[in-house]
Amino acid sequence: MPWLVRDAVRDINRAVARRWHAIDPLLPDPAAMPTGCSAPIVVEAGNGRPVVLGVCVHHRVPAESLNQTWGAADRFLLTPRLTGQDTYPATDALLSQWRDHLATISTARGEDTSACVTWPSRDITGIRALLRHGLQPLTVIAARTRPPAPDRPPRQVPGVTIRVAGSRDAEQVLDLELRLIRYDGHFGGPVWRRDTAMLVRQEVRVSLERQTMWTWLAERDGQAIGLLVAQPPPEAGWISGMTSRSPAAYLQTMFIDEQERGTGVGAALVRTLHARLDSAGVAVTLLHHSQVNPLSGPFWNRMGYRPLWTSWEARPVRALR
Ligand SMILES: CC(C)(COP(=O)(O)OP(=O)(O)OC[C@H]1O[C@@H](n2cnc3c(N)ncnc32)[C@H](O)[C@@H]1OP(=O)(O)O)[C@@H](O)C(=O)NCCC(=O)NCCS
Repeated sequence: MPWLVRDAVRDINRAVARRWHAIDPLLPDPAAMPTGCSAPIVVEAGNGRPVVLGVCVHHRVPAESLNQTWGAADRFLLTPRLTGQDTYPATDALLSQWRDHLATISTARGEDTSACVTWPSRDITGIRALLRHGLQPLTVIAARTRPPAPDRPPRQVPGVTIRVAGSRDAEQVLDLELRLIRYDGHFGGPVWRRDTAMLVRQEVRVSLERQTMWTWLAERDGQAIGLLVAQPPPEAGWISGMTSRSPAAYLQTMFIDEQERGTGVGAALVRTLHARLDSAGVAVTLLHHSQVNPLSGPFWNRMGYRPLWTSWEARPVRALR
């Protein structure tokens, strides 16, 4: 079996690379399969040859990590490798085996758990199977590539100033960061934890002190009304493997005060970032947004972003059918 799996992984990865590149040029080559909690889940074609692989990885996110705010504490991640044109039957078989595997794991039985599959957004053939197994499309990774001609310059919004934030702005940045997490909580992604505010405060302090991130504030009458935080390529290595283009930056936070929305402040902040990214030669910018946030999809599309990956989740794990 091991040689078969090794050969099969190589063949399947090649086929997956061809498939992904045909679906979406911004997808990367498939990464090496992670080491799973058990042997890969294999779906065989009629001739006994594996056509589909899935690896399940368990991830316990500690309470002292801010990452726990972004999802369940116990995460069970499936990495699928699907070949063929119509992946529905294979996806269906793979998810059935994964569900049965998770049913044998005691830590997957708790409330604070999730089963998660990150799926190429344009790979539409397996989506019915994801839905059939109780997975929900929670989060999108959207991408914007550097335009061939310069983007529109930032437009002035009367009475609003945009400036780089520094250490003395930590409280205003924290306030807007926390309001964004509360707002996003409506869409089932983030989970407000006991230590969320303390951990965000720490992160804001460190990032403003070290200036490792690009942080801009929009102000009216000296009052912060909008925030944009982005990670330049040296900070965005953790997500850069999700796309074929390089270098990649990551847009981490975007929030405009409710009273100020729809007046161009968000666009002014984003265009300020884009001017910086484009002049620095950044090839692609990635961001996460909630699939069901009614404000983010239209806004990000106007700003030049489109879906690349969709994260499908069942929370808790027992919601997987
Ligand atoms: C999403 C958000 C940042 C947009 O900021 P904003 O200041 O309201 O957006 P703007 O007024 O600058 O709009 C920019 C463009 O997007 C369009 N737009 C903005 N929101 C829209 C919406 N909900 N539906 C359709 N179009 C929208 C505007 O019409 C405008 O288009 P134009 O350039 O053709 O005039 C803001 O609504 C917000 O903070 N929402 C809550 C937090 C959030 O959702 N953050 C994003 C999480 S990833």
